[in-house]
Amino acid sequence: MTDLSSKPVDELTEPEADAELARLAAAIAAADIAYHQNDAPEITDAAYDAMRRRNDAIEEAFPHLVREDSPSLSVGAPPAEGFAKVRHAVPMLSLAKAYTDEDVVDFITRGKRFFERDRDLDIAFTAEPKIDGLSASLLYENGVFVRGATRGDGAVGEDITANLRTIKDIPQKLKGSGWPASIEIRGEVYMTYAEFQALKARSAASGGQDYVNPRNTAAGSLRQKDASVTASRNLKFFAYAWGATTEDPAATQYDAVQKFAEWGFQVSPLMVRAKSVDELIAQYRLIEEQRSSLGYDIDGVVYKVDQLELQRRWGFVTGEPRWAVAHKFPAEQATTTVKRIDIQVGRTGTLAPVARLEPVTVGGVVVENVTLHNEDYIKGFDSNGMPIREGVDIRIGDTVVIQRAGDVIPQIVRVVLEKRPPDAVPYEFPHECPVCGSPATREINEKTGKEDSRRRCTGELICPAQAVEGLRHFVSRGALDIEGLGAENIELFFSKGLVRTAADIFTLHERRPAVQQALAERREGQAKQREAASGKTRKNVRSVEDRNYEGLDKLFKAIDERREPELDRFIFALGIRHIGETTASVLARTFSTMEELIRVGKETAAAEDPKAVFPSVDGIGGTVIEALVDFFGNERNDDVLERLLQQVHPKPYVVNVSADSVVAGKTVVFTGSLEKMSRSEAKAMAERLGAKVAGSVSAQTDILVAGPGAGSKLKKAEELGVEVISEDDWFERVGK
Ligand code: IVH
Repeated sequence: MTDLSSKPVDELTEPEADAELARLAAAIAAADIAYHQNDAPEITDAAYDAMRRRNDAIEEAFPHLVREDSPSLSVGAPPAEGFAKVRHAVPMLSLAKAYTDEDVVDFITRGKRFFERDRDLDIAFTAEPKIDGLSASLLYENGVFVRGATRGDGAVGEDITANLRTIKDIPQKLKGSGWPASIEIRGEVYMTYAEFQALKARSAASGGQDYVNPRNTAAGSLRQKDASVTASRNLKFFAYAWGATTEDPAATQYDAVQKFAEWGFQVSPLMVRAKSVDELIAQYRLIEEQRSSLGYDIDGVVYKVDQLELQRRWGFVTGEPRWAVAHKFPAEQATTTVKRIDIQVGRTGTLAPVARLEPVTVGGVVVENVTLHNEDYIKGFDSNGMPIREGVDIRIGDTVVIQRAGDVIPQIVRVVLEKRPPDAVPYEFPHECPVCGSPATREINEKTGKEDSRRRCTGELICPAQAVEGLRHFVSRGALDIEGLGAENIELFFSKGLVRTAADIFTLHERRPAVQQALAERREGQAKQREAASGKTRKNVRSVEDRNYEGLDKLFKAIDERREPELDRFIFALGIRHIGETTASVLARTFSTMEELIRVGKETAAAEDPKAVFPSVDGIGGTVIEALVDFFGNERNDDVLERLLQQVHPKPYVVNVSADSVVAGKTVVFTGSLEKMSRSEAKAMAERLGAKVAGSVSAQTDILVAGPGAGSKLKKAEELGVEVISEDDWFERVGK
């Protein structure tokens, strides 16, 4: 059978077109759900767009085949409604933890002591693996599965019945007989390594998201709004406990779990009954030995008092049973070698070293990269100069022990010095940016007086790595917010030389044919990759996608609409270090125009003592002044900024002074901590209302707005008879 999905639209027969529309409707709906409801897109935007365009083209050619559920008739998916809440009649508890054999001895001793008056007592325990998944509670009424819920916060979970129904290990009807009229079976939903790897491979082939570890993936799979997605993940379930029930399933924990097996559940084959600490620890060692061959993550062994009667007597502490404990395994480790050390450069120029490792599986997850944080870390010191890894440095060629603990990102815990190649040399952290060649320096932290542990590229806008990140920032939401010019497009345009600095964005329309070609090439590249991954080929590479120019017009329009941005957005968009949105608006308000900010910035940069030159502005401290000096003192930025300002004309910041406000003409001082607004916001607001804001209280002060913690200013105002009001009074007065 030929692959329909790659057959050109004009070659499709009518039944084929019909089948294709059905396939696309389902695939687009699934992608919508993944994107809009689960925040977990499974295909790239480009692949999604291609599907929609193919759908449109087929509909155009076969208008009578348009389906009722056609994606062209709807935009996106309805908003996620979330899952219904389920209150657990018996809370779902967590477990106390033991890390050492002594902790286990303590647990048993506590139990023996608790029951010491009961001389004939023969206390027994169970030991079983602690599965690293998500717990779920399954309600069976008269042997029929009627509702399933997540643990949630232990008291209230979410109703995920439909998703749990797709798990083969969860019986829809209990087998055998003798089950309580109503019982909540509890256990762990998990994903095997094999399933996790298969999903990762499928996702990589379709350019979809990456998955971090089996546990998180199982969690995501369980919370799908579309149960068919959960079904495709082949989750598994072990039963090990129960919640509300009309009768005890058995007299002991061990027998109860055997009953679960009879009723059709999977139960851990590694569960045993034991009488002594030695037996429990022996089982711990045995399970630990088998850990790597189980095919799924476990993170310890759970010991429970066997007799339910004794469980009830021993009881609970907050959120945990006293009669159970989880004996944790140490984090899983593996040995591998460092092939290379790469340096990545971020937006602010930080040089981030990453060790590329010979791929190694740690607890079922393949690890190929680990962050090395910074140059001191590589040398074997933390940020306080204290030795880590016993002060041993990391070299290319080194054999290293890496560790992965649950959700924690993998890290190097030890260098195997005996295996260090004789020619291995200490790693020389670059003093130049590997991307642009500018000096990379370590700054002195103003507050601590210490050298920053990170080395930063000083190339700023001329550094391509920083430039791309800077451009991404420039068009982002809080900055110029140019719709349709996302990170992917920025990277593409940058790599093709179509956009180098922000100014180029505004002349992009002049390079329309090249832009079009870049977009088309990317689409082709992606299509080829998909083909290669799926092993399918397309007969005809020319497709309807190439004919779609509308998007481009929209993009150019969106760019044009941002030629006169608000000054504060523009300042923020420049991506000057330490200048976030708040500081940007303080600067906008203070200097009113970009020209003025540049003038003052340059004057400050040229001064011997910049802090003495820069006007004292509430909310602008030494760090910001230094960042401004760096930016305006860097000649390379002059040119970039000049070209940008030829294209973009930030609106002067206008303070709309309302002369008729009740505070117009008054001198106001703010003191203490304000709860509803920042100090700079308060100042701006007062100024807009025509008031003058002063920093200290004097006889000229008309109003003191005092928040909690007001001190000397409040005292002085009281002495001078100045009117003192609260923040709430202020809002009432100005009518906000
Ligand atoms: S018994 C009252 N048994 O561990 C005790 N829990 O830290 C209820 N878990 O939320 C739990 N394997 O998700 C129990 N064999 C096992 C387990 C197990 C994994 C998880 C479970 C629970 C968490 C508590």
